[in-house]
Amino acid sequence: MDFGSYETLIVEFADGVATVTINRPEALNALSREVIDELAKVCDLFSGLGDARREDGDGANRGGAGADDDGAWPVRGVILTGAAGKAFVAGADIREMTSMSPDEAVAYARSMHAVTLALEALPVPVIACVDGYALGGGCELALAADFIYASESAQFGQPEVNLGLVPGFGGSVRLPQRIGLGMARELIYTARRLTAHEASSLGLVNGVFPTREQLLAAAAATIREIATKSPTAVAFAKRSINEAVGRTTAEGLDVEANAFRAAFETEDMKEGTEAFVAKRSPVFPGR
Ligand code: CAA
Repeated sequence: MDFGSYETLIVEFADGVATVTINRPEALNALSREVIDELAKVCDLFSGLGDARREDGDGANRGGAGADDDGAWPVRGVILTGAAGKAFVAGADIREMTSMSPDEAVAYARSMHAVTLALEALPVPVIACVDGYALGGGCELALAADFIYASESAQFGQPEVNLGLVPGFGGSVRLPQRIGLGMARELIYTARRLTAHEASSLGLVNGVFPTREQLLAAAAATIREIATKSPTAVAFAKRSINEAVGRTTAEGLDVEANAFRAAFETEDMKEGTEAFVAKRSPVFPGR
């Protein structure tokens, strides 16, 4: 499968799992404008997965390279990580920011907002695998994944106030959503770092693994486990959860009801329920 070529990313694919590695170890994988542009391209490639069949059933494959010729689901999940070394991502690129005007800085932040929203809009799960520092924009990037796994060496933090800055890639929104307002305020105001286990105890991290290899293997295993389920149902569940964030309970239930209806209109639902009644394993067509 061809995912294109990149200067700052490595994109690999095996057994339904796409791994996107931010590859700027000399700058601790900091999010330069080039990294952000390339992440946007990758999100665009994956955004078409399952589209035609899930939404309209019109048979037209509008997907990018992430969707194969018959519109199925070759990619069942994405691992987002940083090149091996000290960091997952050490934040926004501080060197680039030193020469930005306020308007340019906002454009920079907006381009990363678009990437985080695109990751949340992907129809497949994204797992951030944090090995080393996830600071500032690195923590914010990880927060845009569906969930985070970490190695023992992971450290999380929002150190922007050390630089006279505030979180700019979504941290003031997504960190309180994930760990609660009080704890997010304390972390952002003090710039303190959390170890992997501290992050786990706050619900920021779903699993902590001894080594980088075990971390990546665990994330791939989780994606393969999810791949045994209905891809349309997983996509609807992801969308439903993300769209309900920040809404009232009643509005969230409206979002859920829409997803429930949409699931009822799929062949996957027919297959899943019929297989249950017939006491056999389902074979999901993915539409
Ligand atoms: N941007 C650009 N370059 C960075 C970087 C960053 N965020 N973080 C590290 N680097 C570079 C360093 O400048 C250094 O380059 P040189 O070798 O050319 O000097 C190289 O990466 C290695 O870094 P260190 O020598 O500093 O490594 P260390 O092990 O001594 O320290 C660290 C590691 C504690 C992570 C330290 O590098 C650090 O504090 N980095 C900055 C972390 C930070 O403040 N992140 C938030 C950025 S602001 C932000 O993200 C705003 C936002 O929300 C949008």
